[in-house]
This record gives sequence, C-alpha cells and structure tokens, in this order.
Amino acid sequence: METRSERKSWTVQKEDIHAELAEMMELTPEEKTLLSELEGGAEKQAEALTEDFYSRLLAHENTAEYFEGEDMSERHAMIADWFVDLFSGEYGQEYVAQRLKIGHVHVQIGLPVRYPLSMIDVIMQHGRTVAEQSASPDAAEEAFQKVLSLDIAVFNQAYEDRQLKHLANLVGGERLARRLLTGVGD
Ligand code: HEM
Repeated sequence: METRSERKSWTVQKEDIHAELAEMMELTPEEKTLLSELEGGAEKQAEALTEDFYSRLLAHENTAEYFEGEDMSERHAMIADWFVDLFSGEYGQEYVAQRLKIGHVHVQIGLPVRYPLSMIDVIMQHGRTVAEQSASPDAAEEAFQKVLSLDIAVFNQAYEDRQLKHLANLVGGERLARRLLTGVGD
C-alpha cells in the first residue's frame, strides 16, 4: 500500500480535534433532545452501573491494583456522574474537552488503554436499559451509541496525544513521529 508523507487528518490540532470529533458524530437536535429527556432515568440507573463496573475491575488483579487504598464511594460517584453526562444533551467542544481530560487522568496513572476500552460493554448495557425507557427507544438507543462512540474516540485520543507528544520530542517533530507510528520499514 502507498504510504503518503502527509494526511489531512495530521493537521488537525488541539481544540480543532474536539470540534472535529463533536461534528463527526452527526447528532441531530432530535437525538440530543431524546437523550436529555432520559437524564433522570440515567441517574436512577447509575447505581446499578457503578456496581457492575467496579465489581468487574475489582475481580481482576491487574485492574484491582489501581484502586488499592482508594475511597471507593468517591470512585462510584465519579463514574455515576460520567454516565449521567452521556445524557446531558450537549456534546460540543466543551464536552469533548472535558471528556479528554478524564482520558488524560487515565494516561497519567499508567493504565493500559485496553482496560477502559474493555469496560465499554458494561456502559453499553446500562445505556440500553435507559434508552428503553424512551418514547422512541430505537432512536434513543442509536443516539446513545453515537455518544458512546464519541467517548471511545476521545479516550483513544487522550492516549495518542501523549504518545505523539513524547515521540515527537524524541525524534524532533510530529510529522516524523506520525510516519514512524505507521510502522513503515518494520
Ligand atoms: C470506560 C471506562 C472508564 C471511565 C468512563 C472512567 C471514568 C473515570 C472518571 C470520570 C474519573 C475521574 C477523573 C477526574 O479526576 O476528573 C476516573 C478516575 C480514575 N479511574 Fe477511571 N474510568 C474508566 C476506566 C477505568 C479503569 C479500567 C481503571 C483501572 C483499572 C480506572 C481507574 C481510575 C482511577 C484509579 C482514577 C483516579 C485517578 C486519580 O484521581 O488519580 N478507570 N475514571
């Protein structure tokens, strides 16, 4: 396959990344309204979600290690708020920037990206339960899937940001770093 020395996507930087991701989800005003109408339902579902979320993470030695000595009630509140915000109805630049910060927190604690990504099915399952309470359950579920996809993209972006930054510092430029990451010549 041809390897190009440039990609348009490589020029998208900082806040423009937030705007691009927010725009890519193509959430319609109707979908945003459908989700925001479910915010109360999400609050009620949050406790069941946090229980499933942490029982999985605490059941595995490699993930449980991150919570040693932690106040778990504080952790529960954090994930509950994060879940309810999926139904805020506002998914613009500010929302993306705030979610990206949460991703960076996970980079900083040395958490491999496979662990947050392997929790998505738990969030999906509880999001579906909330969407089923909508007057238009199918449309609400579709909208929820878009918002969750946005978060998956953002979590990955947080990790890529750090990798690129450090590699670019080492090799003297982001373009060269990106070319190295394509693995050409491996
Ligand atoms: C989809 C998956 C996940 C979501 C949505 C999520 C969400 C959050 C949120 C909202 C916070 C608070 C961030 C802040 O300070 O503003 C947080 C912190 C934290 N998360 Fe996660 N998390 C996820 C996966 C994981 C996994 C898999 C682990 C460990 C195995 C983990 C460990 C932690 C720890 C230790 C903190 C506290 C970091 C600190 O304050 O030093 N998270 N998470």
